Amino acid sequence: MKTHIPVMLPEVCRILEDVKNLRFVVDATLGLGGYSEGVLLKWRKTAVLGIDQDPQAIEVARRKLMDFGDRFRAVHGNFRDLSSILGKAGMGKPDAVLFDLGISSMQIETPDRGFSFQENGPLDMRMNILDEHQEMAGDIVNTYSMRELTTIFRKFGEDPYAAQIARGIVKFRETSGPIKSTSQLVDIIRNTLPAPVQRRMGRNPARKIFQALRIAVNDELEALNDALGQCEALATGSMMVIVVSYHSLEDRIVKNRFRKWFSEGRGRLPFRRPMVPGESELEENWRSRSAKLRAFQFAATAAEVTGQ
Ligand SMILES: C[S@@+](CC[C@H](N)C(=O)[O-])C[C@H]1O[C@@H](n2cnc3c(N)ncnc32)[C@H](O)[C@@H]1O
Repeated sequence: MKTHIPVMLPEVCRILEDVKNLRFVVDATLGLGGYSEGVLLKWRKTAVLGIDQDPQAIEVARRKLMDFGDRFRAVHGNFRDLSSILGKAGMGKPDAVLFDLGISSMQIETPDRGFSFQENGPLDMRMNILDEHQEMAGDIVNTYSMRELTTIFRKFGEDPYAAQIARGIVKFRETSGPIKSTSQLVDIIRNTLPAPVQRRMGRNPARKIFQALRIAVNDELEALNDALGQCEALATGSMMVIVVSYHSLEDRIVKNRFRKWFSEGRGRLPFRRPMVPGESELEENWRSRSAKLRAFQFAATAAEVTGQ
């Protein structure tokens, strides 16, 4: 695995400096533990609870952060269940919740997980590989109707060639049987689109389709919606919520939710426009290119301020 560089970590830490008494932070997308480590190193008395639905991430992060002793805990779970995870952990309410959405470098660089259109692997794409009942990407491409595939590719990939690609997939299935691997799927997409269209697209024509399948398999947008709802219900004191997102579908959900909270007088937006990585970060870490960071800080209620 290449060296892991957490996206916009200095910015995340700078925003957390606004939280007066940072005792407990939830890293809702633990991944390789980059954000957790950053917080544990900078705030020597702060505890961090890391959550990830990928059991492999939990294992790697636990190993990496074991020297922090009982200041760090990792829990396998989905951040859409934030309240119940926190209830079971018995660590009280957090002062900040961090989300760094999407997949980690480890997930994309492991061909067996099926996330990469650049490597050959099975059509899996589940983040939670322990969930045997969860649909995989292969189930979707091999069993969904043309109309259902078009909807997924359009809605989650915003792909203008959604219908054409869905048609190509269904045609392949009918003539050659099930699609078995990521490379096979990439070939079908390439064979479906005329060369001039592919040249106009610039990037790999499979990119948006893989994004769409990943979002569908992991129900990513609904999970994000649920998690923000749970943050709202949990919020006390001056809890800070920080979200780093990587495509417009996620960013729109975050932007709208934060604006709603702001308009309801629930707290403040530390900055209006999303932060993006600086030039030096882009040079160092190409993966950060699409990152957008937004934050919202809940306001303490009058009762909390007076300690009643
Ligand atoms: C971009 S990585 C996080 C990287 C991390 N900030 C770091 O610096 O190491 C996103 C992680 O979030 C996890 N994840 C995505 N959606 C999740 C969900 N709904 N619940 C729990 N974990 C999730 C993924 O499995 C992945 O490990």
